[in-house]
This record gives sequence, C-alpha cells and structure tokens, in this order.
Amino acid sequence: GKTIIIAIDGPAGSGKSSVARRVAEELGFAYLDSGAIYRAVSLYLSQKCISSDDVAKIEVELEKLTIQIDYQQRIFVNGADVTGEIRSPKVDEVVSFYSSLPVVRHRLLSIQRKLGDRQNLIAEGRDMGTVVFPNADLKIFLKANARTRAARRWKELAERGVEISYDDVYYQIIQRDELDSKRKLSPLLPAEDAIILDTSDLTLEEVVEAVKNLIKECV
Ligand code: C5P
Repeated sequence: GKTIIIAIDGPAGSGKSSVARRVAEELGFAYLDSGAIYRAVSLYLSQKCISSDDVAKIEVELEKLTIQIDYQQRIFVNGADVTGEIRSPKVDEVVSFYSSLPVVRHRLLSIQRKLGDRQNLIAEGRDMGTVVFPNADLKIFLKANARTRAARRWKELAERGVEISYDDVYYQIIQRDELDSKRKLSPLLPAEDAIILDTSDLTLEEVVEAVKNLIKECV
C-alpha cells in the first residue's frame, strides 16, 4: 500500500535531526537525513579540491559517485565510511556552496525519493516538503532564533570534542542560513501547507511530543 511520508524542514540547529531521528525510532519509521547526503557529496568534492564553480568537473565526479546509507545511519561514499567526517566545521563551511548547484540537487533527488517508495519515512532537510516530497502526508517546518541554534550546534560539537568558539559557530549558522535561503533552486522555505513550529523555548522532548501529536492528529 501507500507509505506515509512526514517532511520536516528547517535551518541548521532548529533541532530537526534530533527530532526526526527520535520520532522515527518511536514510530518505527525509516529516517532520511538529507543533509548528510549533501554533506557527503561536499566532503568528497572538497577533498578532491574541486571548486563549486567547476560545474563540468562536478558533473563528471557525480557520475562516478555512489552513496549508501545503512540501517544504522552510517553513510558511505564510494564504499568509504564518512559518517564522522561529514559533521566537521570544514564541511559546514563548504556544504552550502555545493548544495546550491542544480547538478548536485538533481543527482540527489532520486536517491532521496527512492527511500520513501517502500517504507514509512520521516524525511528531514531544507526542501523535503517543497521539492523532494511535495505530496508528503504532513509537513513540519521547525524554526528557532539564531542564538539558540548556534548554542545547540556548539554544544553538539563540543560533546564530540571539536574545538570551535561559539562566535565561529554563530557566524557559520548565519552564513549558512543566508546561502540556503537565498539560493535560486530549492531555497530554505516552509512549504505553503507546512505547520510551523518555533522550538526556541522548547526542549527536545517537548518538540518530539509536539511532532508526534501532529502526526497522530493529521495522518
Ligand atoms: O541539515 P544539515 O545542517 O546537516 O545540512 C547541511 C547543508 O546541506 C545545509 O546547510 C544545506 O546547504 C544542505 N542541504 C540542502 N537541502 C537539504 C538538506 C541539506 O541543501 N534537503
């Protein structure tokens, strides 16, 4: 039968990854972290020193690229496990540039859609409700003020032992917001039929509850 698809979009640090993962786990849905795929491609291209201006070269590289995600959410590029590396500040810095390219977005579209074909799915990213799954059963857009989002992201990095100042994280978040929101293709925007949830003053548990309630009410 038809699968259920829940789209959760929002900016960096809005809490969408933690929320989507938790809700998926609790409801027994599959989970798509689309940002991880954009990060993996960006890591690969930046390690090959291919600039985001060099669209011809990127197109050639994308042809050769295979991306796999296993049931534990580990991600592999051409067979190599890049799960940890894609979360580095280095990737934060470049990912929005590669993600703005039509050739990159186009290549990743089918990979993402395929995941919703056979299983109930919580899909999380920037354009899940607007572009990748326009017919999602429920669309949620999480937002939060930039200071709160930077603090969350900084804490997450600190817990993983990454040394970076709060100010640098804040600056990167602002810059990524700007790039992701202003790009021509699939900009970060709530879908017209998305439910907007401000998570600034909510704990992770509260957001998880809110999302589960929305799913119960609407799906
Ligand atoms: O969600 P996360 O912060 O890991 O996403 C990393 C970057 O990947 C975003 O800043 C954005 O540039 C890109 N992205 C995107 N479309 C998505 C998910 C992520 O362009 N659906």
